[in-house]
Amino acid sequence: MNSKFLIFGFAGSLRVDSFNKAILRAAGELLPADVELVIFDLEGIPPFNNDLVPQLPAKVREFKTGIKAADALLIATPEYNYSVPGVLKNAIDWGSRPHGDNSFEDKPVAIMGASIGMLGTARAQYHLRQSCVYLNMHPLNKPEVMVPFAQDRIDENGKLVDAKTREKIRELIESLVVWTRRLKQG
Ligand code: FNR
Repeated sequence: MNSKFLIFGFAGSLRVDSFNKAILRAAGELLPADVELVIFDLEGIPPFNNDLVPQLPAKVREFKTGIKAADALLIATPEYNYSVPGVLKNAIDWGSRPHGDNSFEDKPVAIMGASIGMLGTARAQYHLRQSCVYLNMHPLNKPEVMVPFAQDRIDENGKLVDAKTREKIRELIESLVVWTRRLKQG
Protein backbone atom coordinates (compact mmCIF):
# COMPACT_ATOMS: atom_id res chain seq x y z
CA MET A 1 0.00 0.00 0.00
CA ASN A 2 1.24 3.46 -0.93
CA SER A 3 1.44 5.61 2.19
CA LYS A 4 2.85 8.56 0.30
CA PHE A 5 0.79 11.58 -0.63
CA LEU A 6 0.06 10.95 -4.30
CA ILE A 7 -0.21 13.72 -6.88
CA PHE A 8 -1.38 12.93 -10.42
CA GLY A 9 0.00 15.49 -12.88
CA PHE A 10 -0.59 16.18 -16.54
CA ALA A 11 0.32 18.88 -19.02
CA GLY A 12 -1.97 20.20 -21.73
CA SER A 13 0.61 19.77 -24.45
CA LEU A 14 1.65 16.81 -26.57
CA ARG A 15 4.91 18.43 -27.68
CA VAL A 16 8.05 16.49 -26.82
CA ASP A 17 9.85 19.76 -25.94
CA SER A 18 6.82 21.25 -24.20
CA PHE A 19 7.63 23.94 -21.65
CA ASN A 20 4.63 22.77 -19.63
CA LYS A 21 5.95 19.22 -19.52
CA ALA A 22 9.25 20.78 -18.39
CA ILE A 23 7.70 22.58 -15.41
CA LEU A 24 5.83 19.41 -14.49
CA ARG A 25 9.13 17.49 -14.45
CA ALA A 26 10.59 20.29 -12.34
CA ALA A 27 7.74 19.82 -9.85
CA GLY A 28 8.83 16.19 -9.58
CA GLU A 29 12.28 17.36 -8.50
CA LEU A 30 10.90 19.68 -5.84
CA LEU A 31 8.64 17.38 -3.83
CA PRO A 32 8.58 17.08 -0.05
CA ALA A 33 9.87 13.69 1.17
CA ASP A 34 6.46 12.08 1.68
CA VAL A 35 5.02 13.15 -1.68
CA GLU A 36 5.01 11.30 -4.99
CA LEU A 37 4.16 12.76 -8.40
CA VAL A 38 2.90 10.52 -11.18
CA ILE A 39 3.10 12.24 -14.58
CA PHE A 40 0.55 11.20 -17.19
CA ASP A 41 0.96 11.97 -20.90
CA LEU A 42 -2.27 12.92 -22.67
CA GLU A 43 -0.95 11.50 -25.96
CA GLY A 44 -3.34 8.82 -27.20
CA ILE A 45 -6.54 10.20 -25.69
CA PRO A 46 -8.93 10.31 -28.67
CA PRO A 47 -11.19 13.26 -29.50
CA PHE A 48 -14.21 13.14 -27.23
CA ASN A 49 -17.16 11.32 -28.73
CA ASN A 50 -20.20 10.63 -26.59
CA ASP A 51 -20.87 7.49 -28.64
CA LEU A 52 -17.65 5.98 -27.21
CA VAL A 53 -18.57 6.66 -23.59
CA PRO A 54 -20.36 3.33 -22.96
CA GLN A 55 -17.05 1.57 -23.77
CA LEU A 56 -14.36 3.99 -22.67
CA PRO A 57 -11.10 3.85 -24.68
CA ALA A 58 -8.24 2.19 -22.74
CA LYS A 59 -6.20 5.38 -22.45
CA VAL A 60 -9.21 7.23 -21.03
CA ARG A 61 -9.75 4.46 -18.47
CA GLU A 62 -6.10 4.79 -17.48
CA PHE A 63 -6.53 8.54 -17.11
CA LYS A 64 -9.64 8.23 -14.96
CA THR A 65 -8.07 5.55 -12.77
CA GLY A 66 -5.00 7.71 -12.18
CA ILE A 67 -7.10 10.70 -11.19
CA LYS A 68 -9.24 8.71 -8.78
CA ALA A 69 -6.24 7.07 -7.09
CA ALA A 70 -4.57 10.41 -6.40
CA ASP A 71 -4.84 12.57 -3.30
CA ALA A 72 -4.55 15.68 -5.47
CA LEU A 73 -3.98 16.81 -9.05
CA LEU A 74 -1.44 19.09 -10.66
CA ILE A 75 -2.22 20.56 -14.08
CA ALA A 76 0.30 22.44 -16.22
CA THR A 77 -1.54 24.28 -18.95
CA PRO A 78 -0.26 26.13 -21.98
CA GLU A 79 -2.32 29.04 -23.27
CA TYR A 80 -3.77 28.75 -26.77
CA ASN A 81 -5.68 31.73 -28.09
CA TYR A 82 -6.29 33.05 -24.57
CA SER A 83 -7.71 29.74 -23.35
CA VAL A 84 -6.73 26.15 -22.56
CA PRO A 85 -5.54 23.98 -25.47
CA GLY A 86 -8.12 21.65 -26.96
CA VAL A 87 -5.99 18.68 -25.93
CA LEU A 88 -6.43 19.58 -22.27
CA LYS A 89 -10.10 20.44 -22.51
CA ASN A 90 -10.67 17.19 -24.40
CA ALA A 91 -9.00 15.17 -21.64
CA ILE A 92 -11.05 16.99 -19.01
CA ASP A 93 -14.25 16.26 -20.90
CA TRP A 94 -13.38 12.54 -20.98
CA GLY A 95 -12.51 12.55 -17.28
CA SER A 96 -15.91 13.99 -16.45
CA ARG A 97 -17.84 11.18 -18.13
CA PRO A 98 -19.87 8.97 -18.11
CA HIS A 99 -22.54 11.04 -16.41
CA GLY A 100 -22.44 10.12 -12.72
CA ASP A 101 -18.77 9.10 -12.86
CA ASN A 102 -16.93 12.41 -12.82
CA SER A 103 -13.36 11.43 -11.89
CA PHE A 104 -12.60 14.99 -10.80
CA GLU A 105 -15.34 15.09 -8.15
CA ASP A 106 -14.01 16.49 -4.85
CA LYS A 107 -10.37 16.53 -6.02
CA PRO A 108 -8.00 19.22 -4.82
CA VAL A 109 -6.02 20.63 -7.75
CA ALA A 110 -3.10 22.98 -8.28
CA ILE A 111 -2.74 24.80 -11.58
CA MET A 112 0.37 26.23 -13.19
CA GLY A 113 1.39 27.12 -16.71
CA ALA A 114 4.21 28.27 -18.94
CA SER A 115 3.99 30.35 -22.10
CA ILE A 116 6.32 32.22 -24.37
CA GLY A 117 4.19 35.33 -23.86
CA MET A 118 4.34 37.91 -21.08
CA LEU A 119 1.25 36.79 -19.11
CA GLY A 120 2.43 33.24 -18.54
CA THR A 121 -0.94 31.52 -19.21
CA ALA A 122 -2.97 33.76 -16.85
CA ARG A 123 -5.99 33.80 -19.15
CA ALA A 124 -5.90 30.05 -19.77
CA GLN A 125 -5.62 29.38 -16.04
CA TYR A 126 -8.75 31.38 -15.27
CA HIS A 127 -10.67 29.50 -17.95
CA LEU A 128 -9.44 26.24 -16.44
CA ARG A 129 -10.61 27.35 -13.01
CA GLN A 130 -14.09 27.84 -14.47
CA SER A 131 -14.19 24.17 -15.54
CA CYS A 132 -12.94 23.18 -12.09
CA VAL A 133 -16.01 24.82 -10.55
CA TYR A 134 -18.40 22.82 -12.71
CA LEU A 135 -16.46 19.61 -12.02
CA ASN A 136 -16.67 20.25 -8.25
CA MET A 137 -12.90 20.27 -7.83
CA HIS A 138 -11.13 22.31 -5.18
CA PRO A 139 -8.56 24.50 -6.94
CA LEU A 140 -5.82 25.96 -4.79
CA ASN A 141 -5.96 29.76 -4.97
CA LYS A 142 -2.37 30.67 -4.16
CA PRO A 143 0.43 30.77 -5.07
CA GLU A 144 -0.35 31.41 -8.71
CA VAL A 145 2.41 29.97 -10.86
CA MET A 146 2.43 31.70 -14.22
CA VAL A 147 5.68 31.31 -16.09
CA PRO A 148 6.13 34.01 -18.76
CA PHE A 149 8.92 33.93 -21.35
CA ALA A 150 9.39 30.23 -20.68
CA GLN A 151 12.04 30.00 -23.39
CA ASP A 152 14.34 32.08 -21.13
CA ARG A 153 13.77 29.95 -18.03
CA ILE A 154 13.95 26.45 -19.49
CA ASP A 155 17.20 25.32 -21.09
CA GLU A 156 17.77 23.34 -24.29
CA ASN A 157 17.60 20.08 -22.32
CA GLY A 158 14.14 20.89 -21.04
CA LYS A 159 15.30 21.71 -17.53
CA LEU A 160 13.71 24.56 -15.61
CA VAL A 161 16.77 26.54 -14.58
CA ASP A 162 15.18 29.70 -13.21
CA ALA A 163 15.63 29.63 -9.43
CA LYS A 164 12.66 31.89 -8.63
CA THR A 165 10.28 29.78 -10.71
CA ARG A 166 11.59 26.60 -9.10
CA GLU A 167 10.94 28.13 -5.68
CA LYS A 168 7.38 29.10 -6.68
CA ILE A 169 6.67 25.54 -7.84
CA ARG A 170 8.05 24.14 -4.59
CA GLU A 171 5.71 26.51 -2.73
CA LEU A 172 2.79 25.42 -4.94
CA ILE A 173 3.29 21.74 -4.14
CA GLU A 174 3.68 22.38 -0.42
CA SER A 175 0.51 24.50 -0.43
CA LEU A 176 -1.38 21.81 -2.35
CA VAL A 177 -0.49 19.23 0.30
CA VAL A 178 -1.60 21.53 3.14
CA TRP A 179 -4.80 22.41 1.26
CA THR A 180 -5.63 18.75 0.63
CA ARG A 181 -5.05 17.78 4.27
CA ARG A 182 -7.25 20.66 5.39
CA LEU A 183 -10.06 19.51 3.09
CA LYS A 184 -9.75 15.92 4.30
CA GLN A 185 -10.18 16.99 7.94
CA GLY A 186 -13.72 17.94 6.92
C1 FNR B 1 0.05 29.80 -28.75
N1 FNR B 1 0.81 30.53 -27.82
C2 FNR B 1 0.20 31.46 -27.01
N2 FNR B 1 0.90 32.04 -25.95
C3 FNR B 1 0.27 32.91 -25.12
O1 FNR B 1 0.91 33.41 -24.18
N3 FNR B 1 -1.05 33.22 -25.30
C4 FNR B 1 -1.79 32.69 -26.31
O2 FNR B 1 -2.97 32.97 -26.42
C5 FNR B 1 -1.16 31.78 -27.20
N4 FNR B 1 -1.86 31.19 -28.22
C6 FNR B 1 -1.31 30.16 -28.94
C7 FNR B 1 -2.11 29.43 -29.83
C8 FNR B 1 -1.56 28.34 -30.51
C9 FNR B 1 -2.44 27.55 -31.43
C10 FNR B 1 -0.21 27.99 -30.30
C11 FNR B 1 0.37 26.79 -31.03
C12 FNR B 1 0.57 28.70 -29.44
C13 FNR B 1 2.24 30.23 -27.66
C14 FNR B 1 2.45 29.20 -26.55
O3 FNR B 1 2.65 29.90 -25.35
C15 FNR B 1 3.70 28.37 -26.84
O4 FNR B 1 3.52 27.67 -28.07
C16 FNR B 1 4.02 27.40 -25.73
O5 FNR B 1 5.31 26.91 -25.94
C17 FNR B 1 3.01 26.23 -25.69
O6 FNR B 1 3.22 25.41 -24.58
P1 FNR B 1 4.12 24.07 -24.63
O7 FNR B 1 3.71 23.23 -25.80
O8 FNR B 1 5.56 24.55 -24.76
O9 FNR B 1 3.90 23.42 -23.30
